[in-house]
Amino acid sequence: MLRDKFGRRHNYLRLAVTDRCNLRCFYCMPEVGISYLNRKELLSYEEMLRIAEIFSSEGVNKIRITGGEPFVRSGMNDFLRNLIQVKGIDEVHVTTNGSLISQHIGFLEEIGIKSINLSLDTLDRERFAAITRRDKFPEVFKTLQDLINSSIETKVNMVVMKNKNFNDILPMLELGKDNPISVRFIEEMPFNGDPNQGNGEYLNLTQILDYITSEHSISKLKDSPSSTSLNYQVNGFEGSFGIIPAYTRTICGSCNRLRLTPQGDLRTCLYSQGKVSLRDTMRNGSSDEEITDLIRKALTGKARNGFIAESLRDSSNPAHESMATIGG
Ligand code: 5AD
Ligand code: SF4
Repeated sequence: MLRDKFGRRHNYLRLAVTDRCNLRCFYCMPEVGISYLNRKELLSYEEMLRIAEIFSSEGVNKIRITGGEPFVRSGMNDFLRNLIQVKGIDEVHVTTNGSLISQHIGFLEEIGIKSINLSLDTLDRERFAAITRRDKFPEVFKTLQDLINSSIETKVNMVVMKNKNFNDILPMLELGKDNPISVRFIEEMPFNGDPNQGNGEYLNLTQILDYITSEHSISKLKDSPSSTSLNYQVNGFEGSFGIIPAYTRTICGSCNRLRLTPQGDLRTCLYSQGKVSLRDTMRNGSSDEEITDLIRKALTGKARNGFIAESLRDSSNPAHESMATIGG
């Protein structure tokens, strides 16, 4: 079992399968000048399956596939089918921008994907194009409708930004009025790939919640033990909503998450600088036991929370990488 020195049990791996994306959300990536990893630098599907087995034998039973956009990588559907079959992995979840998968929802349902988190920051086509720098709203909205009509548990992730989409909070909330989905409002983090530009558009948990309660009466829901969001329900709505305090980091105490970047670096915290290359270790011919030791050792160095992890970074290297290179 993977425990850190604060006793937190880590049973959840977030696996970023590519750093590429067909959108350019400004809070995640610069518009131009991105240098993508080449194929050899990425973990292969075989390597990822081996890693999933190793983590599984250490008690990890939940994997989330992230990116970049997972579905820009060819062969993703076959990989997901194989991943679901890894012994001990009880739940495979996917985070996607939804622009490429409308025609795959039936397949994803059939192979048993547990849930899909759809990144969607507005229901307005023009604002969508302004935020993502691509005109793909119709495709994403179609995916959302298909997901609602499927048996796959669906969550919508909206990054909340002061001058960009604050007015979209209430329309987004309405999505849950007659649908059993969860809409989650995420505090913006400084991970946009630009070291000189922080998150000037940042709104915190309290500001988001105050805005919602000025319009709706809500009830607090019970959060599952390692939930990344604080969850609520608008009274009378079918769905629920959550707030992800990604920047104020109030949920670190129950963190159960480990991250693997597209090039196979293990990261113990979104905000940490330290990384251990599981890819290089594997390619040097290490045994499963040696890789397991490396994972355990990395976990021992995990900071108590994201503020401490951030403070341990070199001052010349502030937390600013593109989210697509960390995996969200
Ligand atoms: N701040 C907050 N959330 C972000 N995401 C991507 N970049 C940022 C950022 N800078 C979100 C995406 C996706 C999730 C994995 O992370 O919208 O839903
Ligand atoms: Fe692509 Fe997601 Fe980054 Fe947007 S946030 S550019 S959809 S990886």
